[in-house]
Amino acid sequence: MSLNIVLVAGSSQAESQSAKVAAFLAKRLQALQLCTTPGIIDLGLAPLPLWPASDDHGIWADYAALLREADALVVLTPEWHGMACPALKNFFVHAGYRELGHKPALLVGISSGQGGAYPLSELRASSYKNCRICYLPEQLIVRQVETVMNSTQSAGAEDLRIRRRADWSLTVLAEYARALANMNARISIDDPEFANGM
Ligand SMILES: Cc1cc2nc3c(=O)[nH]c(=O)nc-3n(C[C@H](O)[C@H](O)[C@H](O)COP(=O)(O)O)c2cc1C
Repeated sequence: MSLNIVLVAGSSQAESQSAKVAAFLAKRLQALQLCTTPGIIDLGLAPLPLWPASDDHGIWADYAALLREADALVVLTPEWHGMACPALKNFFVHAGYRELGHKPALLVGISSGQGGAYPLSELRASSYKNCRICYLPEQLIVRQVETVMNSTQSAGAEDLRIRRRADWSLTVLAEYARALANMNARISIDDPEFANGM
């Protein structure tokens, strides 16, 4: 079964390393026959306005339509001063239950050095409460990012190691997506008392 998977590259820089990794993972989703046409939201290339946004018909409307059809997500963030990128935190102010509720998501941390874990802890702590995105216990951290995932062939042992880990993580994501199929529709949020998480 081909899944509908959307990748969110959370850097606000144009031509970011996060977008590079997102494109690489999208190709792997196709190669592994998990997803025929992965969707990519690149917050550096087509940024969202800072919340509150005045135009409901702008870029967010396109993103929301894409996300509502998604079975699963890959959420990528660079580590900036030990934090998740502000563009991604802004994304989570826009995105709500209808786009993300009870959908499995693989977190991917990006670092040009040895970092990448802090922003994943941050997102696990603070991005899910109202939208109810379901982060997997599995996660991927791409360190020394400039040296890996640059072409079809791996550049060495570290590149090969992270590529194999990426394939494994995507396979796990697909299993969760199958197990949680339609959870978004199966759990009603019509009762306003429970519209927000505690
Ligand atoms: C403002 C800023 C702060 C950064 N802080 C960290 C950091 O705390 N830890 C880290 O490992 N890398 C840090 N980096 C390096 C990023 O990990 C690296 O530039 C990464 O490739 C950026 O991803 P991007 O191209 O997707 O934006 C920082 C980069 C920037 C621009």
